Amino acid sequence: MKSPARFFPLVMGSLLAAGILLAAPVFSQQPGESEPNLLVPENSGYYQAGVMPDRIVATPAQNPARGFAVNWRTQQGVDAPLLEIVKAGDSPDVGVPRQISALTRTLGSGAQAANYHRADIDGLEPDTLYMFRVAGAGTWSGWRQLRTLAESREKPLTLLYMGDTQNKNLSHVSRVMREAMRHAPDAALALHAGDLVSGAVNDNEWGEWFEAMGDMPAVMMLAPAIGNHEYWKAFENTPQERRVLGGHWRHLFALPGNGAAHEHARDTTYWFDANGVRMVVLDGTSALDLGSMAAQAQWLDKVLADSRQPWNMVMIHQPMFSPRGRGDSDKLRQALLPILEKHGVDLVLQGHDHTYGRRSGEKPGQTLPQYIVSVVGAKQYRITDEARRSMRPVAEDTQLFQVIRIVNDRLHYQARTATGRLYDSFEILRSADGRKRLNEITQGRIAERDCHHREATLAGRKDRCWE
Ligand SMILES: [Fe+2]
Repeated sequence: MKSPARFFPLVMGSLLAAGILLAAPVFSQQPGESEPNLLVPENSGYYQAGVMPDRIVATPAQNPARGFAVNWRTQQGVDAPLLEIVKAGDSPDVGVPRQISALTRTLGSGAQAANYHRADIDGLEPDTLYMFRVAGAGTWSGWRQLRTLAESREKPLTLLYMGDTQNKNLSHVSRVMREAMRHAPDAALALHAGDLVSGAVNDNEWGEWFEAMGDMPAVMMLAPAIGNHEYWKAFENTPQERRVLGGHWRHLFALPGNGAAHEHARDTTYWFDANGVRMVVLDGTSALDLGSMAAQAQWLDKVLADSRQPWNMVMIHQPMFSPRGRGDSDKLRQALLPILEKHGVDLVLQGHDHTYGRRSGEKPGQTLPQYIVSVVGAKQYRITDEARRSMRPVAEDTQLFQVIRIVNDRLHYQARTATGRLYDSFEILRSADGRKRLNEITQGRIAERDCHHREATLAGRKDRCWE
């Protein structure tokens, strides 16, 4: 038998002779050089839509115990394809599935054009495992299994919450998503707090994002908040500069459509009830830059006032208290904080600042809401001295994910690092009269992490920790 060392040159020699290695692109990144945002070469066509359905993602209906929506992509020419759904059983004989025709829309032009399909499924039974598949060009996806939310608070609810993925999704976000799935394989929902990608109109970025998500959208519903990077800037760096919603957002995610009544917030804000949790998702970019702040505040006030759920959470990309010291937070606090506090919101889940930080409001003795900022992706910023004083814990130079578990009257929160180590933890206990108490859980946490060891990024930026 040939030893591997002797066999290797023979193989390389034959490949070279066949011209195979000469044609392959060279991976040129050297140690100490900053990494490109995407691993996939720009014009490779790697993520082009084809005959098989891909980018399959389930999103919650307003009542995800009774329904959800599925969105997927195919090449052009596929119109109103079917989704099939049936209660999951142990036999490969699935019986006669229910069929639902999708609504089809085209995104992009030329070689980049693809059809996106949306199917809304209603009339489902709570806490029930369903299997579904979607059609392509004379093809089917594999069957996926997904459990509807329960309607009984005795049933535990697990949520995953992620800050910005945004950069180097395939290279650096994918491992964190796998770690999150290992820690919470029972999660019913994945909450993403915006800036899923960096370039809203770059299709390869969305391709890498879906690849980085792996099985997550196949086994649980995914609820995204929109970030500023899901918008692009028209007339950039001119007095006419304005934000424009990237086409992908509307085509990729089949959201409930119950958002604020404003032309720039209708497609990007929504709410749903998840077994004891009212989850309200805001669009901070539209509020700050497109004039919908008042409309969103009014809508938020109503949706929270109508809530009969024991727990209320709000997800918004831009933070109320910015660990990086951004001025936009002042405007958000002014418009939204009184509403969040009036209605006793428990958690405000945020991103945008590429650091970790947690705190309560400004009133003495106040513990709720807990305002949390987190980050998954490779872009890492620095924390201000003010944030070090007012937030605990904080983190720089750390990729994180969060697991939230609710059982009856206990909400248990954990932030974990990319390698699964416990970084932050607390619980909120709810008494019979609805009053709530916060307990810090410090046992088992690793020490706070900072960026003092690195003076600048590889590109020489001192205001960031990594990029
Ligand atoms: Fe952002």
